[in-house]
Amino acid sequence: MRIGVLTGGGDCPGLNAVIRALVRRGIPEYGYEFLGFRDGWRGPLEGDTIPLDIQAVRGILPRGGTILGSSRTNPLAESAASGGRSGLERIKGNLAGLGVEALVAIGGEDTLGVAGRLNAEGVPVVGVPKTIDNDLGATDYTFGFDTAVNIAMEAIDRLHTTAESHHRALIIEVMGRHVGWIALHAGMAGGANVILIPEKPFSMVEHRFQTRYAPLVVVAEGARPEEEDALALADQRLDAFGHVRLGGIGQVLANEIEKRTGKEARTTVLGHIQRGGTPTAFDRVLATRFGVHAIDAVHEGAFGMMMALQGTQIVHVPIAEATSELKLVPPERYAEAEVFFG
Ligand code: F6P
Repeated sequence: MRIGVLTGGGDCPGLNAVIRALVRRGIPEYGYEFLGFRDGWRGPLEGDTIPLDIQAVRGILPRGGTILGSSRTNPLAESAASGGRSGLERIKGNLAGLGVEALVAIGGEDTLGVAGRLNAEGVPVVGVPKTIDNDLGATDYTFGFDTAVNIAMEAIDRLHTTAESHHRALIIEVMGRHVGWIALHAGMAGGANVILIPEKPFSMVEHRFQTRYAPLVVVAEGARPEEEDALALADQRLDAFGHVRLGGIGQVLANEIEKRTGKEARTTVLGHIQRGGTPTAFDRVLATRFGVHAIDAVHEGAFGMMMALQGTQIVHVPIAEATSELKLVPPERYAEAEVFFG
C-alpha cells in the first residue's frame, strides 16, 4: 500500500518527528511505501512529490520546520464557484495516478478542513493536528506549542532585566490569532505584569498601564482593545484561507503607554522565532506518538479520523468534529494569571 503524507499551514517544531514516526513504523511493521507531497495541498494539486523512505527521515527528529515544505494553498479557493470541486477532482486524479491509496494530512483547521472534504468524497484520509496556537478543541495539546511557549518565556526572562535597568515599559507580542494560549503560558512562566489575549478585550485607559513604573506586557497578536478606534492596523492582507495577517498591536500599545504615562515603552515582536528551530522534548514525544497512532489508524482503516491527546491517551476523533470548535482560554484560567498582574 502506498501512503501519501503532507504538511500544510504554518509550520511548527515537531512536524518532522511525525513524518519520521509514520515512516519508521509504517515500513517495517506494515510494509507500506510512502510518498511525500511538497508544500501542503500544492503537492497533491500539482502531483509534486518526494520519496519518503527510512533514509529520508534519518536525523530529522530534532529538526524544526518540515522536510516536505508547507504552504497555505487552499484547493477549495481556486474553484470557489464550483464549491471547490475542481481542486478536489485534480487532487483525486493525481492520487490515483500516483497509486496513493491513503493520505496522512498533518495540519491545522484549514488543512484538516480540506482533508475532511476529501475523505467525505471517498479518499481515505487520516489527520494529525498541528497548530502552534494550541487552539483545536478536540485535543488537549498540539506539538509546537510547548516549544513556542519556552522560546517566548526565555525572551521574557531576558526582557525583564533590560526593562528594569532602563525603567521602561516593555511589550512583547507573541503569536495567537484567535486564542491567547501562548501569551497566557509564556506570560505566567515569565512573570509578566500584564497578559493580553484575544478572548478578553482590554482597556487602553487601564489603571495598571498608568501606575506601574515599568510593566512587562505580553500581548497576543490577536488581542484587541475595547476602544477599537485606537487600532490603526496597517496590514489587512488576507491569506488563501481568508485570514487577516495580524501584527502591530504591540506597537499600538507602546505608543499608548508612552502617551498616557510619559514613560518610555518599547516593543519586541517575537514573530516566527516562535515557530523555528528544534522542538522541546514534550513536542518531540507528542509528535512521535501522533505519528505512530496515525499510521496504526491507517492500518485499522480508521479513515476520516484525527489523532488527539486527551489526558495522557492518544484517541481518534472525527476530523469534521475536531476542526469545528476553537479551544479558547476559559475565563477561570485567565483569572489564575491575573493574580500576578500589576
Ligand atoms: O496559525 C498559526 C500562526 O502561527 C498564527 O499564530 C499566526 O497568526 C500565523 O500562523 C502566521 O502565519 P504566517 O506568517 O506563516 O502566515
